[in-house]
Amino acid sequence: MDVDTSPSPSPLALLLLGRGADPDSERGVECPGDLPPASDPDLVARARAAKAALGERVFVLGHHYQRDEVIQFADVTGDSFKLAQNAAAHPEAPYVVFCGVHFMAESADILTGDHQQVVLPDLAAGCSMADMAAISQVEDAWDVLADAGVAATTVPVTYMNSTAAIKAFTGRHGGTVCTSSNAQRALTWAFEQGEKVLFLPDQHLGRNTAVLQLGLSLDDCVVYDPHRPGGGLTPQQLQDARVILWRGHCSVHGRFSAETVREARERIPGVRILVHPECRHEVVTQADEVGSTEYIIRAVEAAPPGTAWAIGTELNLVQRLAKQHPEQTIVFLDKTVCFCSTMNRIDLPHLVWALENLVEGRVVNRIQVDPDVAHWARVALDRMLALPELGDVD
Ligand code: 13P
Ligand code: SF4
Repeated sequence: MDVDTSPSPSPLALLLLGRGADPDSERGVECPGDLPPASDPDLVARARAAKAALGERVFVLGHHYQRDEVIQFADVTGDSFKLAQNAAAHPEAPYVVFCGVHFMAESADILTGDHQQVVLPDLAAGCSMADMAAISQVEDAWDVLADAGVAATTVPVTYMNSTAAIKAFTGRHGGTVCTSSNAQRALTWAFEQGEKVLFLPDQHLGRNTAVLQLGLSLDDCVVYDPHRPGGGLTPQQLQDARVILWRGHCSVHGRFSAETVREARERIPGVRILVHPECRHEVVTQADEVGSTEYIIRAVEAAPPGTAWAIGTELNLVQRLAKQHPEQTIVFLDKTVCFCSTMNRIDLPHLVWALENLVEGRVVNRIQVDPDVAHWARVALDRMLALPELGDVD
């Protein structure tokens, strides 16, 4: 089988903050109100004061890809799985400020109580991968599977990086959510429920998990392209496949290639290549270790002084690890810089703005999922949270 690693035909362009609307994206684009200027020298003091004034009424979650200026104010930092667990575990805080991206804040809203309100400091913080699967496309794909006679035996598994509507679809059809730290367990569980898996929306995480952790072959996987009639697949291909991978990917992790791995090994003798499972199959198969952002941090923390790493994940995290571990050599696995532009939209001015409004009793940029969608998405999220813990991809 050819491993399809080319970009999806029409990833969405980034819109300028506060300009217009984007009906095709899970993210918003508007940020109402006056933001403090980024040059304000008092921003750190203002964030501290607002947090102190709110006390236990606010709980701030920070994803590992957030900027340092933001992460310093997080009550807990984590990968998507840990943040989902933490969102569910803090019912005492009426306000949950999510420093991450839109799909994570949606999941936090679903997992928190009705008395809690979730705030995303910049509504334009979306995820281009999540935008590669729209609910209407997924419903059409399910019809294609039904026509091929395989829907009844297929279990949908959606990566956390998807809209609440897709998580709800998964819940309604007997499937689960997964993150990069439990994808193996999720797929194992799914194969206990049915014969095939429809894996959304990251083809790379799906393929890497199916082949490297479940022992399936590349030929067991097919790629469903939502931009082609019938997904670009014949009924026979759908019937023969074990895993139907959605044609989505992360543009940040998609930059790493076999060539960047080779260059890093040439440049740094003895280097260990540590990558996120959103990387392409050719990268993951050539890496020394593979895992979620939380796994990457633990791997570095556990390594002896003098270890050299080339890390293939978002740059804020790699730079932070390099700063925190001067006793090791830590470099980014690509010559060009590679921030996640949407994660980076949450900056200190937006955080200060959101917190100061909460101090004044105004909830800005609230993320609120439609109750019916939330109900079914919660079914899928609860299935994920109930999966027995396993180690990361490695
Ligand atoms: P983690 O769950 O590993 O933090 O990954 C989230 C993500 O968006 C990676 O691109
Ligand atoms: Fe989405 Fe990729 Fe950014 Fe993660 S790094 S939030 S998958 S665009």
